[in-house]
Amino acid sequence: MSAESTQSAEAEELQVSEAQIAVHWKEESHYYPPPQFIGQANASDPSIRDRFSEDKFPECFKEYADLLTWDQYWHTTLDTSNPPFWRWFVGGKLNASFNCVDRHVRTRPNQAALIFVPEPEDEETQAITYRELYRRVNETAAMLRDYAGLKAGDRVTLHMPMVPELPVVMLACARLGVIHSQVFAGFSGAACGGRISDSQSSVLITMDGYYRSGTLLDHKVKADEAVARAKEEGHEVDKVLVYRRHPGQYASQTPMVEGRDVFVDEIMPQFRDKLVDPVSLPAEAPLFIMYSSGTTGRPKGCQHSIGGYLAYVTGTSKYYQDIHPEDTYWCAADIGWITGHSYIVYGPLSLGTTSVVYEGVPTYPDPGRPWRIAERLGVNIFHTAPTTIRMLRKVGPTEPKKYDYHFKHMTTVGEPIEPDVWRWYYEVVGKGEAVIVDTWWQTENGGFLCSTLPGLEPMKPGSAGPGVLGIYPVIYDENGEEVPKGSGRAGNICIRNPWPGIFQTIWGDPDRFVQTYYEKYNKDPKSTDWHDWPYFANDGATQAPDGYYRILGRVDDVINVAGHRLGTKELESAAILVDEVAEAAAVPVVDELRGRAVEMYISLKPGVAATPEVEEKVAKIIETEIGKVARPKNVWIVPDMPKTRSGKIMRRVIAGISNFTDVGDITTLANPEVVEEIRVHVHEVKQAKGEVAKLSEKEAEEIKAFGQAE
Ligand code: PRX
Repeated sequence: MSAESTQSAEAEELQVSEAQIAVHWKEESHYYPPPQFIGQANASDPSIRDRFSEDKFPECFKEYADLLTWDQYWHTTLDTSNPPFWRWFVGGKLNASFNCVDRHVRTRPNQAALIFVPEPEDEETQAITYRELYRRVNETAAMLRDYAGLKAGDRVTLHMPMVPELPVVMLACARLGVIHSQVFAGFSGAACGGRISDSQSSVLITMDGYYRSGTLLDHKVKADEAVARAKEEGHEVDKVLVYRRHPGQYASQTPMVEGRDVFVDEIMPQFRDKLVDPVSLPAEAPLFIMYSSGTTGRPKGCQHSIGGYLAYVTGTSKYYQDIHPEDTYWCAADIGWITGHSYIVYGPLSLGTTSVVYEGVPTYPDPGRPWRIAERLGVNIFHTAPTTIRMLRKVGPTEPKKYDYHFKHMTTVGEPIEPDVWRWYYEVVGKGEAVIVDTWWQTENGGFLCSTLPGLEPMKPGSAGPGVLGIYPVIYDENGEEVPKGSGRAGNICIRNPWPGIFQTIWGDPDRFVQTYYEKYNKDPKSTDWHDWPYFANDGATQAPDGYYRILGRVDDVINVAGHRLGTKELESAAILVDEVAEAAAVPVVDELRGRAVEMYISLKPGVAATPEVEEKVAKIIETEIGKVARPKNVWIVPDMPKTRSGKIMRRVIAGISNFTDVGDITTLANPEVVEEIRVHVHEVKQAKGEVAKLSEKEAEEIKAFGQAE
């Protein structure tokens, strides 16, 4: 075979994607929303679909923008002159903090805006009224401006746990026009440091400690690591503002650094009763950055706008979360993720409802905890992820029955939900009384993309539903041909049109923004017609005959662990920091609770012995570089990685081994003999550990398609 034909055989092999894999599974039946829900739903008039039909685009989104209070009304709904850098509500001016706080102080000052539930059950819950929130946000804004020297357009990194100070700081930033970048508290100091330097934040805001599973964790230590990592990357942090979980008592062992670190509770008295006027900002000014993983090593800073984003999360919170001001709404996600930004903080508060913030682990101290919280606070809208639902079902399958709470509405987000798990959620958690929305979307999107209108469209277990109002999805195959609905074939789900919640760019890397999301299906790079710029979501999907989309998972090298996006490249870059490691490959393994877990395959430098210590070093460095969520389930030391003749690691092959599925065709590999050797070893160990997975057909297909994006 000539070199050329070898290459083309490989190229062909690598191009086999989900689009070519037929999907066979049983169609689930529809469930209809309970009549008592329909009676009170925000979206109960079927004509709402017509108001958002494609011929009304983009003006249909005026309806969302009109849910906000504008300082200056906009003149252009959508400006497409510089695609795909869409501009929404051009000419408009507003302030997000004003919209989430001030305007409700006038109408419902004494209603709780936030209810904080500490993890320790003997610590009192804290209700923060809109008036009190207003006071705290103002004082904090004064502190950020006058002590930390922050002003509109500056970036500030937050590495805060699930405490009410987090939304207060976010809203204080928004008041000033300071762009916040909140990093999930579970991420390591190093991961936080990388995000500090990428966003060029001169201030880090953190907390000394917080509760997880009954332990007060030392969190301040991560701030020191973060500052050190940023410095290694050439970026200096001037100030570290440290909240204390218990004001006056320091929960960390690490010393405060003179001239850099300060306890917020010690300086706040200077700002008591200070008021800060909300800065009126262009709709197009950035509100925040949220980092997420993608195909390349470095996380991408997704930049979201004030006007478009806030309008979109307010509209979708109203119609899809069915939030009314008098509801008690609990989204059990973490504010460190986009779900928390959009659907704990900005959407719910913009609508003036009561949003619950729970500090800890849902199963602490026992699996009845979420239902006790729901009963005690009168929660009627509940929002969580499949990984939590699986866990609660496993450890407390009948717990919900013991508590007197009643949900009208429940949400699932972040991963595909198995129909069986969906049914438990519906019947046991929802007691058959609540409507469920399965919401598919991404960090990049600001808000929901596919789901069902809860009072108008039936639910279908395991399917997200049709495109939401004003969103027109399409499934394309690898060649850009549309995969018709009901064909039973999978392809790449794209959104044909722009929408107000879509992120504006990748912070500091507009080229990568265009390449990652638009290049693949762009019809003409010079065109200023939005029809030529479908948004490529990097997810595989199928569309059933009823038009509902079923999301299959990522088509790029991202592993979704318990709803957390982890990039294979990030994991691999961390692993090769271990001296002994020559090469590393990360693959997903189906996990009963977390959906997917990570397994690492590594080969060692010549002369290095394979020992459990090296395995542990790899697991440990992934924890320090990324965070505990990323800790691999297993680290496999292999004699050599299965590779193509051009030297590419075939992740699909090792993913097949880890999951006990077919490894596919290995005849084109440069070293096919190594596959059997790895398989025997991995299977032996896994069998001994009782980790033999039985995959569903859908899961097996996903594993088969893994790593094809390279
Ligand atoms: O693969 C999809 C999966 O989660 C990815 C987005 O992750 P992230 O940006 O962290 O945002 C999570 C919360 C919005 C998607 O590319 N995903 C998200 N929601 C669903 C889902 N997969 C199936 N069903 C969903 N409802």
